[in-house]
Order: sequence, then C-alpha cells, then structure tokens
Amino acid sequence: MTWTPPQRAQDGLAERAPRAGQGRRLECPGRGELIGVKHRSDGARRAGRRNGLDSIGAVSDAPRIETERLVLRGWRPSDREPFAAMNADPEVVEHLVNPLTREESDALADRIEEHFAVHGYGLWAVEVPGRWPFIGFVGLLLQTFEVHFTPAVEIGWRLARPAWGQGYATEAARAVLRHAFTEAGLDQLVSMTVPMNTRSWAVMERIGMTRDPADDFDHPRVPEGHTHRRHLLYRLSRDTWLGARAQAGSDDRH
Ligand SMILES: CC(C)(COP(=O)(O)OP(=O)(O)OC[C@H]1O[C@@H](n2cnc3c(N)ncnc32)[C@H](O)[C@@H]1OP(=O)(O)O)[C@@H](O)C(=O)NCCC(=O)NCCS
Repeated sequence: MTWTPPQRAQDGLAERAPRAGQGRRLECPGRGELIGVKHRSDGARRAGRRNGLDSIGAVSDAPRIETERLVLRGWRPSDREPFAAMNADPEVVEHLVNPLTREESDALADRIEEHFAVHGYGLWAVEVPGRWPFIGFVGLLLQTFEVHFTPAVEIGWRLARPAWGQGYATEAARAVLRHAFTEAGLDQLVSMTVPMNTRSWAVMERIGMTRDPADDFDHPRVPEGHTHRRHLLYRLSRDTWLGARAQAGSDDRH
C-alpha cells in the first residue's frame, strides 16, 4: 500500500469513491468479474446484518469483526486524531511517499468510510479492547490504477508505532482474509509494498500470500525516479486459502 503525494492519489482512494447509493452505477461489473472481484450484493448486506456483522455504535457502515485480541470496526470521529498522529509519524510513513497533514489525514478517513459504503468492505479501524481504542487500520481496498493486475482488491495495514511487534497486523489480516473469502465473496487478493518494507511483506508471507518476481511493478502513482516506485506484488487466491485452512484443520490462524 503506497502513499503518494497529497494532490495526487493516496492509498488507492484518490478517485473519490461515490457515496452510498451511487456506487453500483459507477462500478464496472465486467472488469470486476475478470479478476474475481465480486461486489457485495444487497442480499449479502442484509445477510451480514442478520448475522450481527454490522458495526455497533460505529459511524461508518462496516461489518464488525472480532479476533482473539482485536476488534475491527467502522470508523468513529474519535479515531481521527490518533489517525492523524500516526500519519504524521516519520517511522510509520518511512516506506510511504510522504506524511500527511491533519487535513489530508481526515480526507483519507472520509474516503475510507466512503469505500465501505460503496463496497461493503474496506480498511477497518482496529481497536485493542480495554487497551487502545484505535491502533490503525487493516483491511481491503479496491485498486483501479492501471497496472497488469488491476482492478484488484488489496489487503493492507498501517498501525501506530507502539502497536508494532505484537502480532496485531497479522492477527487482523487473517480475520480480514476470512471475511474477504467468505462474507465478501472475493476470489483473489493482492498486496503490495516496496522491497525495503520488510515488516509489511513479512505480514504478507505470514498470512500465506506468495510473490512471483515477474509480478513486481513500477507503481504508477509514485513519481518516476522516486526510490519507492518499485513494488513487490503478493497474491492469495480463495482456493489456496481454503486449501491451507483444510490442511491446518480449519483454524483461524490460516
Ligand atoms: C506493516 C506493519 C503493520 C507491520 O507491523 P508488525 O508489528 O511488524 O507486524 P505484526 O503486527 O504482524 O507483528 C509481528 C511481530 O510481532 C511479534 N509478536 C509479538 N507478540 C506476538 C503475538 N502474541 N502473536 C504474534 N506475533 C507476536 C512477532 O514475533 C513479530 O515480530 P518480528 O517482527 O520481530 O518478527 C507496521 O510495520 C506498520 O504499520 N508500518 C507502517 C505502515 C506500512 O508500512 N504499512 C504497509 C504499507 S505496504
């Protein structure tokens, strides 16, 4: 997941996502089907509500996901301050193109909420109940910039520095995989990062994603000549995920 200059794209959310109710008209069903992207049907949304998956007390319309130690939920207004602090932290943004101002960070949070409204999935706000009300995001993002594997749904993460080194990103990402391949009905996910971002591609490998070096690419939203332009691409298909779960006895660590 790449950070690009404020006036251009950020995190694949640059093309302002349409608001709820407009989304379906603006999507391109044929292209989605080609790479296994299935947009969430109204039926799936209703089923999610019946199963109690909707967020409770959250502002954005995001399914609530719980793991052993975490809650993945819709965004709250109170998340914006710690989100801005995280987006301005030089260590957090080291492998992204540039830090965000408060205004840019809020605009990104707006686009994340809009993405949930349109697609039914997105970058969930992550909470450690009883410890940290907000540690960052982990989730799914439809990427439409033009490269050989798009359109595609990316799984990505960004956590505040004090939350690193505790397995939270991996734990949340495993729950997001399960949601993507079951509730959301996706067939394939990708993830991308710069080669220097070892912590990020370590998460990709821990959750079972694999990389074919022939897939590596120059990110079109990073300026030519920038050290962060070259990206590694990791993939995981639903079939591979199901196979790994079957082998591991269907537990949620896969
Ligand atoms: C990418 C990022 C989310 C990875 O965070 P992370 O803390 O390294 O990853 P996890 O949360 O999965 O934690 C794994 C580490 O926790 C350790 N850990 C500690 N307790 C653990 C537990 N109970 N369970 C599992 N792992 C645990 C693991 O051993 C591992 O340590 P290691 O890195 O020394 O091997 C984080 O570095 C980040 O937000 N970076 C900035 C934003 C960014 O670059 N995003 C990606 C853009 S592509």
